[in-house]
Formats: sequence, C-alpha cells, structure tokens
Amino acid sequence: MYTVPKLEDYSAESLDRAANELRKALESEAHDVNTAAQFKEFRDRWWSRKSGIKAQINKVWLGNAPLDQKPKVGFWLNLLAMEIEEKLEETQGAVAVYESALTLAAKEDWTGVISRPLADRLDISLPGIQRPIGVKHPVLRVMDEIVAVFKAMGYSVGEGPEVETDYYNFESLNFPPNHPARDTQDTLFIAGQESKPARDRLLLRTHTSPVQIRTMEQQPPPVRIVIPGKVHRNDPLDATHSPVFHQVEGLAVDTNITFCDLKGTLDHAMKALFGSSVKTRFYPSFFPFTEPSADMQVSCIFCGGKGCRKCKFSGWIELLGCGMVDPNVFDFVKQNGYDSSKISGFAFGMGVERIAILKYEVEEIQLFYEGDVRFLEQFA
Ligand code: PHE
Repeated sequence: MYTVPKLEDYSAESLDRAANELRKALESEAHDVNTAAQFKEFRDRWWSRKSGIKAQINKVWLGNAPLDQKPKVGFWLNLLAMEIEEKLEETQGAVAVYESALTLAAKEDWTGVISRPLADRLDISLPGIQRPIGVKHPVLRVMDEIVAVFKAMGYSVGEGPEVETDYYNFESLNFPPNHPARDTQDTLFIAGQESKPARDRLLLRTHTSPVQIRTMEQQPPPVRIVIPGKVHRNDPLDATHSPVFHQVEGLAVDTNITFCDLKGTLDHAMKALFGSSVKTRFYPSFFPFTEPSADMQVSCIFCGGKGCRKCKFSGWIELLGCGMVDPNVFDFVKQNGYDSSKISGFAFGMGVERIAILKYEVEEIQLFYEGDVRFLEQFA
C-alpha cells in the first residue's frame, strides 16, 4: 500500500519521481474500486482533510521544503491535487455506471455479464454516436415538390406500371405501329415476345403518358391528375441524359378546357417551383397524343432572361412538353364518357431530373444516381 515518502531533495528529478509513484498508486487503487462503499474508502484515503494522501503530501513534501523552494513546490502540489481530484471524479462516474448496470442486470438475472472493466470503458461524458438521419433524395424531393404544387390546385395523384404494354405506351397514345414518332423515344423492349400481338408486347415505359389512358379507363371525366414515376429510354448516358429518369405527367379533362387553362396552370406551377419572377412561353411542337402540341420554356433562371451560357444566350430554357389531348386519344376511352365533341383536356409531362438540375445547378445527372453521400448530404 502506498505511503507518502519523505523527499531526499527537491531537484526536478526527485519531484518527478515522487509524482510518478503517486500517480501509479492512484491509478491502481482506482482500478480496484467497484462499489459505492469502496469508492468512499478510496476517497477518504486520498482526500480526507486531516489524514488523506493529499493532506500528507502537503505536510511532508511542502512542509519539509527549503524556504526558497516552497512557492515552486506549492505550485507543483496544486497540480498533483488536481490530478487526484480528477481521478476521484472519474472513478465515481465509473462506479455509478457500473452500479446502475448491475441494478439493471440484476432484474434480468445477468449480473455475471457485467464487469467493472466494462463500466470503465463507458465514458458517459462522451457525446453519443449520432446516427445521421437520412434525407429525401433530391430527385424524390423535387418530384414531391412538383406534385405538391398540383395537389394544391386540386389535382389527385396517380401511378402506373413501369413495365408497360405497347398498347398503353404507344398505340392508345396515337402512335400507330411503325409510326416514325416512335423513334423519338428509343425504347427498351422485353426480349422473347415475338409470338405476341404487337400491342401486347411488354416494354419499359418511355414516359408517364400511358397512365393518362389508364386513368381515363378507370374514371369518367372530369379528371385532374398528376402522375410521378420512373421511365426508361435506350439513351446513352451523358451529362444531362440517363437511360433511367423520372417524369411527372399531368392530365386535366373537363368540359370547356382550353389552351388558356393549360398556359395558366403551367405558368402558375413554374412560378411556384422557380419563383414568381419566372416567365413562361409556349413554342409549337409535336406529340402524337396532343393537338396542338407545345414545348414550354421558362425564362432563364440563371440570367433572368438576359442571355447566358446556361440558356445558350437565348434567355429561355426548354422545360416540358404539353398540349391539348388529341381527340384520337379520347376515342380509345370513348365508352367511359370521353366524347371529344363534349369534353376537352390538356396534358403535360416534365422531366424531374431536368428540373432538379436547374434548381440545384447540378452539373452531371449521374450525381443523382451514384449514391455519393458527399453529394446527397448537401440536400439535408
Ligand atoms: N410524354 C412526353 C415525353 O415524354 C411529354 C408530354 C406529356 C407531351 C404530355 C405532351 C403531353 O416527351
């Protein structure tokens, strides 16, 4: 058992040696403290005002120091006292953890599992391990944002299968077999279906538009629906194209729906997505399932329309396809109340990644799919 020795002399080496011996004793005695009762004994031995080791080192080491050395020795003893006090606190914490673990273990009859070394390794002053909470993927987030804008206008949300038939993806959308318009959507077909009639052959849907027909088969007019979803095209990957991407489709059918409604609805949606200063314009285009068809452009969100590299100095950025539902499309669902002499409608389809790229100024579409946390956590 450690006792405070008399110091031969007060050289630095001698003080060092004395301090190290004291530390060794402190450490090994602390290690043997398991219970609150043992801790009390340990604390009294080291800290008791009259006879504790701390009191003794003051008396023996400071008391016997030559007068001119006293300030230095006093300072040194203060440091040692701090070390003792720290060790006392640490041991008290470990004992508390150990005892509460024992209480818990006793309830479960696990006492044998818990040992003091285990409690020693628990530093209750350390911050806990923080598991990062995941965030919504930026593509999903933008998709949800788009959907929310239309929900606020009274639209409901629909879904459809990613593996589609030729009928829904093309034929019922007024792409006749072998029509050249099919070439604009390079399609991934499921292999080995040559024996099936063309319209039943399965493919990976190239757009969300097939859900237009699926919706109208299910419900008579009026319709206000948005359809978010994944689509596939046999396109090579480049900075802005991916063979797998996402779209949000929209369809509104009612009596007296006009091109003005289409323009007003999309203009409002773009202002909600990009800010109220954004302008829209509609450019003639072609889709087999809309007539007339348009490409909608927004004023460049980077330069405000003045012209910059991002908008190729035109001041406008092409964002989505839209148009008035072609009467030929309604004819495929005529029996469900879609009589093109009585009702009309508009449809639109937008690429989610394209909008996300613009909103967040992402340079490479691939960043969305690589799952690199350094990229994704920026959206937290
Ligand atoms: N489906 C078209 C595309 O993917 C977009 C579109 C949707 C155009 C609805 C008009 C109406 O390119």
